[in-house]
Amino acid sequence: MPDTLKITFAPLSSPVSGLAVILVGSDLRPGPTASALLAPAGDLLNRAAAADGFKGKAGSFLDIVAPDKLGLDRLIVAGCGKPGEASELDRVKLGGGLIGRLPDAAGEATVVLETGEGALSAEEAADFALGLRLRFYAFDRYKTKRKDNEEGPRKRQITLLTADEKAARKAFRAREAVADGVDVARDLVNEPPNVLHPQEFARRAGALADLGVEVEVLGEKEMKKLGMGALLAVGQGSARDSQLVVMQWEGGKDGEAPLAFIGKGVCFDTGGISLKPGEGMQDMKGDMGGAAAVVGLMHALAARKAKVNAVGLIGLVENMPDGSAYRPGDILTSMSGQTIEIINTDAEGRLVLADLLWYAKDRFKPKFMINLATLTGAIMVALGQEHAGLFSNDDALATALGRAGLETGEKVWRMPLTAEYDKLIDSQFADMKNTGGRQAGAITAAQFLQRFVDTTPWAHLDVAGTAMNSVKSDLNRSWGGGWGVRLLDRLVRDRHEG
Ligand code: BES
Ligand code: MN
Ligand code: ZN
Repeated sequence: MPDTLKITFAPLSSPVSGLAVILVGSDLRPGPTASALLAPAGDLLNRAAAADGFKGKAGSFLDIVAPDKLGLDRLIVAGCGKPGEASELDRVKLGGGLIGRLPDAAGEATVVLETGEGALSAEEAADFALGLRLRFYAFDRYKTKRKDNEEGPRKRQITLLTADEKAARKAFRAREAVADGVDVARDLVNEPPNVLHPQEFARRAGALADLGVEVEVLGEKEMKKLGMGALLAVGQGSARDSQLVVMQWEGGKDGEAPLAFIGKGVCFDTGGISLKPGEGMQDMKGDMGGAAAVVGLMHALAARKAKVNAVGLIGLVENMPDGSAYRPGDILTSMSGQTIEIINTDAEGRLVLADLLWYAKDRFKPKFMINLATLTGAIMVALGQEHAGLFSNDDALATALGRAGLETGEKVWRMPLTAEYDKLIDSQFADMKNTGGRQAGAITAAQFLQRFVDTTPWAHLDVAGTAMNSVKSDLNRSWGGGWGVRLLDRLVRDRHEG
C-alpha cells in the first residue's frame, strides 16, 4: 500500500469534527472561526496553555485530548509566534511540524488556517500545505513489515479551512509541483546502489518526458566521440555503462539562452583503486545527490510550467576498483583538451564535472551554470551539515543563491576562490592534478572545476554535507532530503521568469 496524503481546501465555514487544529500567535488569540468553535468550552484554551507552559511560540504545539463540550476527539493548537512576524519559511515549517504531531490513530484532521490576526492569505495557506507535503515523505519501499513505532499511519486526509479556498488551491498547485520534485530527488538518493546504477538512473530521468521535458541519453560511445576522457575514466572500472543525461525544458522565450544545472551522479563511490575504508561506505550510494537534485528541479520546473529555458545535465558513473579501473598516475585528456594527472582515484567527482561543465558551456552557452556535487568531505569539516559550500565567479549569482537559501532554509555559505589556491593543483606532469594537498580540500576541488568553466557565470555547490545523511528537521525525516530542489526552484522563480 503506497503512502497517501490527501490535502483538500475548504471554506472556513465548513463543519469541524474529529481532530481539529487551530492557530494562535504568542498572544494566544484564536481567529473568529476557532473562537466560535471553542466557545462552548469557556476558557479551555488559556487553562490548557497555562497547564502546559504553551506560549504560542512559532512551531510549538499544545495538544488537548478529548476536550470537554466541543464534540472533538482532539484539539491541537499550533503556535505562530509574535503576531505579524511569521515568515514564509515559518509557515512551511509549521505545516511540517504538524505532520509530526498528528497521532498515529488519526487519519483525518481539519486545520483552521486563521489566527487572531485573521485568515491566512491563499499564498500563506499554500505555504502551510507545502510543509505538510514535505514532511509526509518516507522511503520504505524495501520494508516488508511495518513497525508499530514508526511515524504516522501512512494514510492521511487533511482539510485546510481557508478564506478563499479556490485561490489557495491554485497557489498550492505550483508548490505541489516543487514538492513532487523534492520527492523525486529524495527517492533517487535513498535508492540502493544495486538498483540505481547509471542506466537505471538514466531511465528514471527519462520519465521527465511525460512532463514535456526533452530527455537525451548519451552512452559511452557518444561520450568517447566527444572526447570526455575525464568522465569516462571514472566509470572505466565499472561493469555498468556510464551515462550522460541532458534534460531540456523550454518554458521561456524562443531562442533565449538557458540556465544550466549540472549534477554529479556517482551512483556508488568506492574510491576506486584509492579504495575508501569500509566503515560507512554504504553512504556512498548518496554520491549522486547532486544529480538527483537536478532531476528533481527539472521535474519541479516542468510540472509547474515555469516560464524559463533550463537545461539539466547529469553525469552518471560508478567508481569501482577493477582490473580495468583508472589508476593513480594515469594522465587523462578532458573534453576541454586540458590534461589531468590522477593522484587519487577517490577524487572522481571533479573529473565527471570537468567534462559536464565544458560540454554544457560549449553546447548551450547558458546564462549561467550551477553545479551541485557531493564533492568533498572537507566541506563538512568546514560547514557541517548546516550550509552547503558555495563557490562562484559571479557575485550577483552568489548573492542571489544566498538569498534563496535563507528563504527556503536550504542555506549556502560562500567560500573563496583565488589564484593562490589554484596553484595548489598544478601538476609536474600534466596541466593539473586531481587533488591538492591536505589543506583547503573543498577549495582546491572548486578551483579544479573552475578550470573548466571559462568566463561563464558559474556557481558550484558542494553538497556533501546536505544532500545525503540529512539532519532530521520539520520538513524532512528522510536520509535523502532532496536538498537543492527548493533552493534552485526559488532562484528561478524569483529572478528568471517573465
Ligand atoms: N564523494 C566523496 C565526498 C564525500 C565524502 C561525499 C563524504 C559525502 C560524504 C568524494 O568523491 C571524495 O571521495 N572526496 C575525497 C577527495 C580527496 C580524495 C581529495 C574526500 O573528500 O576525501
Ligand atoms: Mn570519491
Ligand atoms: Zn565521490
